[in-house]
Amino acid sequence: MAAPLVPRSSESGGWPEHGGAGPGARRLATALLFLAAVALPCLVLYRAVAPAGVLVQPAARLPWLRAAAAPPHDDDYDVDLVQENDSEDVRLERVLRAAAMANDTVILTTLNSAWAEPGSVVDVFLESFRVGEHTRELVDHLVIVSLDLAAHRRCKQIHAHCLAVATEGVDFSGQKNFMTDGYLRMMWRRIDFLRQVLEKGFSFIFTDTDIVWLRSPLPRLYADGDFQIACDHFTGDPDDLGNSPNGGFAYVRANTETVELYRYWYAARERHPGLHDQDVLNLIKGDRYLAEVGIRIRFLSTEFFGGICEPSRNLSAVCTMHANCCVGLGPKIADLKLMLHDWRRFMSLRDRDKHSASWSVPRNCRRPE
Ligand SMILES: *[C@@H]1O[C@H](CO)[C@@H](O)[C@H](O)[C@H]1NC(C)=O
Ligand SMILES: *[C@@H]1O[C@H](CO)[C@@H](O)[C@H](O)[C@H]1NC(C)=O
Repeated sequence: MAAPLVPRSSESGGWPEHGGAGPGARRLATALLFLAAVALPCLVLYRAVAPAGVLVQPAARLPWLRAAAAPPHDDDYDVDLVQENDSEDVRLERVLRAAAMANDTVILTTLNSAWAEPGSVVDVFLESFRVGEHTRELVDHLVIVSLDLAAHRRCKQIHAHCLAVATEGVDFSGQKNFMTDGYLRMMWRRIDFLRQVLEKGFSFIFTDTDIVWLRSPLPRLYADGDFQIACDHFTGDPDDLGNSPNGGFAYVRANTETVELYRYWYAARERHPGLHDQDVLNLIKGDRYLAEVGIRIRFLSTEFFGGICEPSRNLSAVCTMHANCCVGLGPKIADLKLMLHDWRRFMSLRDRDKHSASWSVPRNCRRPE
C-alpha cells in the first residue's frame, strides 16, 4: 500500500523538477512524503488494534490522505459504525430513514456473530418473513443492528438495511463469551441504542432474531400504549403489571415518555449490577417514577405473540413465536425450524381442518434450570 506513496527520485517524472519548485519546497515535499509513508502504516496498525468503541475510518477522517492514495477497497472501510458518542448520528439517521414505514416506524433486531452464521438463527428468522402471511413486505422495514463485525459482514450479504453498533470496552470483532461482562455490556448498549432511535423520532418494533414472524403483528398492536411488550407468561390482562415481560419483542412509540423510560431503564443498571436488561425492567416496571412520567405500559398476549414458554394455542391467530425458554443454540435453531415446518403444514390444510393444528415444539428446547 505504501509503495505508490514513495516516488523514487531516480525515476524521471517521479518528482516535480519543473514549475519553479526551489530547494525549500522540495524539502517540504520530502517531509510530507515521509510523513505519509510513516503515518499511513501507523494508522492501519491503529485501526487493527483500536478497541471497538473507537474504531475509526482513518481515510475518511483524513481526506488529504485519501486524496494522496486511496486505500484498496476493503470491506472494513464500509463499516457503518454507530459510536457511543453519537458522532455517527447522521449514519444512524440515514439507515433508519431508508427503512422506515410512512409513519416513521422501523423493525429492529440485533445480531451477533454466532447467530449470523449461515444456517443459524438469522437465516430461519429471514425465512419466516418469506413464508409468513403478509410478512414479506415487512422485510423492507427491517434494520439489522450488528453488535460485532462478523455479524455486520454477514448482514450486508443477505439484507439491505444493516447498521453496526459497537460497545465501548467490548471487542467488536466478536470474540467474547456469553454471560461475561462484555455480553452484559452489549445487552445494555442495546437499550441505550434504542433510546437513541426514539430520540430521533422513530417508533419501532424490536424483535429478537430467534423469533419467527408468521403474520404481520401490526394489526395486533394496541391502538393506545406507548410501550407494548411480549410476555413469557400472559395473565390475560394487558394492563396487569404482574405480567412477566419478555424484552425479545416490543413495540415502542416514539414520544417523550418512552425516551424517559429508556433513559431510566438504562440508568437503573447501576443500581442492579450484574443483571440483564429484562430482569431490571421487571424490577422497575412498577416504579412510582414511571407512573409519574405517565407512560402507558401494556402487555401483549401470547395468543398472538407466543413462545416456547407459552405457545400460542391458535395458529389461525398467531403472529410471532419466540424460541424463549430454551437453552443452547442448537436446540433453539432446531425448534425454530420446526415452527416453520408446523406453519407450512398449517397453511396447506383445508380451512375446516385448520382449527385442529398444533405445534410440535418444544421438541429440542428445554427450559433453563
Ligand atoms: C404504520 O404504518 C403501517 C403501514 O401503513 C401500518 O400498518 C401500521 O399500523 C402503522 N403503525 C402504527 C403503529 O401506527
Ligand atoms: C383463533 O383465531 C381466529 C382468528 O383470530 C379466530 O377467528 C378463532 O375464533 C380463534 N379460535 C379460538 C379457538 O380461539
